Amino acid sequence: MTIDLTTRFTGLEFVNPFVLASAPPTESKRKILRAFEAGWGGVVTKTIGLHPVENVAGPKTIYQRASDVKPYVSRYKRPDTVSHSSWNWELISDQPLEQWLPDLEEIKTTYPDRMVIASIMAGAGGEAEMENWRKLARACVGVGCDALELNMSCPHMDRKDMGANIANDEDIIRSVLKAVTGAVDVPVWVKLTPATSTLVDAAGAAYEAGASCISLCNTFPSLPLMDPETLKFEVEVDGYVTSGGQGGLAILHQALQRVSDISRAYPDRAISGIGGIKGFREAFNFIVHGAGNLQVCTAAMEEKGSGGVGVQLIQELTRDLGVYLEAKGHSSIEDFRGIARERIVEHSKIRRKSEDYNGGYAISA
Ligand SMILES: Cc1cc2nc3c(=O)[nH]c(=O)nc-3n(C[C@H](O)[C@H](O)[C@H](O)COP(=O)(O)O)c2cc1C
Repeated sequence: MTIDLTTRFTGLEFVNPFVLASAPPTESKRKILRAFEAGWGGVVTKTIGLHPVENVAGPKTIYQRASDVKPYVSRYKRPDTVSHSSWNWELISDQPLEQWLPDLEEIKTTYPDRMVIASIMAGAGGEAEMENWRKLARACVGVGCDALELNMSCPHMDRKDMGANIANDEDIIRSVLKAVTGAVDVPVWVKLTPATSTLVDAAGAAYEAGASCISLCNTFPSLPLMDPETLKFEVEVDGYVTSGGQGGLAILHQALQRVSDISRAYPDRAISGIGGIKGFREAFNFIVHGAGNLQVCTAAMEEKGSGGVGVQLIQELTRDLGVYLEAKGHSSIEDFRGIARERIVEHSKIRRKSEDYNGGYAISA
């Protein structure tokens, strides 16, 4: 029996809930076509912008692996290691909008049943930047993109009015959403940075201003390791490094916490879960905390022989989800989505050996 994995999310029908996240796996027409051939339900394109992009001179991404053998975590190849995380300082797409548009149109014509979500990013320093958001939005929707994902989470921007730097500012979030939702009539997803203590407020502002979904997490701002002998960072250019983004398995638990925070605050709103998904078990965990759609990046990039789009991974994800649904008698992920929400409680609600603890408020005698 073939299990139907069709999932409705933000008003769109996905043949399965698994989507390649905005990153190298979705940076070109060739890769996206390969991903759809392999079975991915959708893609969020590598972020498209209008400002000039020039990547660093060295590698843009490294893969860090852990083992019992020293060094415990390192990008350097050692026997018997397992994947720990990716670390990157790659900027948004260096392919100009004009080149993206015919590519997106061809992708959509070739795979009309797959969801193409265009990730876009502009600044927030005034009306000219709002017009840039509108221009990007109209152009991508004009060639058939099913939805947009607004990148308010890129951790690699010096500009204070762009990427993760604006995700603390609810007024900016509202202004950008007003500009975009006024320009196009498709679901607008908002990708937020996990690196803020005001994430739930930011998500609330975005939902209120018309966001159909919050996507998170983007990568966590982080630094690569330095070798104690050589005093070199594991990735550097001319001896220098800057804050980059960590993704992959190492961010799974932190991503779940943030999805849970938003989902408990806004249980009726949509969340696309991202961060450390390597297989069904991790995807399952995002779903029980409330995510109705799952995005994958590092695990697809790491898969050998697939051109970095996770050909085997999407087969495993759909197979294992199908097996689970059938074994549990579920008809879709909606049957177990959000079941963990009520089991995440305050510290003082967790049973202790005595009844005395009240969350740290009372001064003990
Ligand atoms: C090399 C690289 C480039 C990325 N570029 C983008 C980007 O252009 N836009 C974006 O929204 N996220 C970008 N991301 C973040 C991913 O979409 C994703 O949110 C993050 O890697 C966490 O997912 P993962 O743990 O499955 O890797 C990038 C990630 C990597 C590793």
